[in-house]
Amino acid sequence: MLSKKIEEVLNKQIRIEAESSQVYLAMACWAEVQGFEGVAQFMFAHSDEERMHMLKLVKFVNERGGHAQISELAAPPTEFGSFKNMFETLFNHEVMVSQSINDLVHITLEQRDYATHNFLQWYVAEQIEEEALARNILDKINLIGDDKGGLYLFDNDVKQLVAAGTNAPQ
Ligand code: FEO
Repeated sequence: MLSKKIEEVLNKQIRIEAESSQVYLAMACWAEVQGFEGVAQFMFAHSDEERMHMLKLVKFVNERGGHAQISELAAPPTEFGSFKNMFETLFNHEVMVSQSINDLVHITLEQRDYATHNFLQWYVAEQIEEEALARNILDKINLIGDDKGGLYLFDNDVKQLVAAGTNAPQ
């Protein structure tokens, strides 16, 4: 059984995951309308992955005697300026999510809720991967800069990442 405090903080995380899904969906649209198919596919897949992160929390809260809250979400931006800027936004967003998961883990220890603590370990591991992936892509884009030919190759590279399932919903 979840305490009120744990239920409340898990519900906050549900909202963060749902908003993450929306942000990446907006990034997918921005890339798609400019013809960058690889980046768009990557972002659509990433958006699905965030929805899965949200659903996993929803199920857990409901199964543990809480009530998952599906709340109104902030609208994400529609423009991202450049790919470099967009992937920096993605990386910073993931760092924020990791921090939020860490805070949650800390609260479960304070509350001696070891079941939720155990459940959250999946998210801890997932955030390590997500940050590494975002950092890897940022390194690539920093090498390319704004070179048009480079961006075309970058888009193809990202398409390969999606095809290899690196970013597939788990
Ligand atoms: Fe669900 Fe990308 O964190």
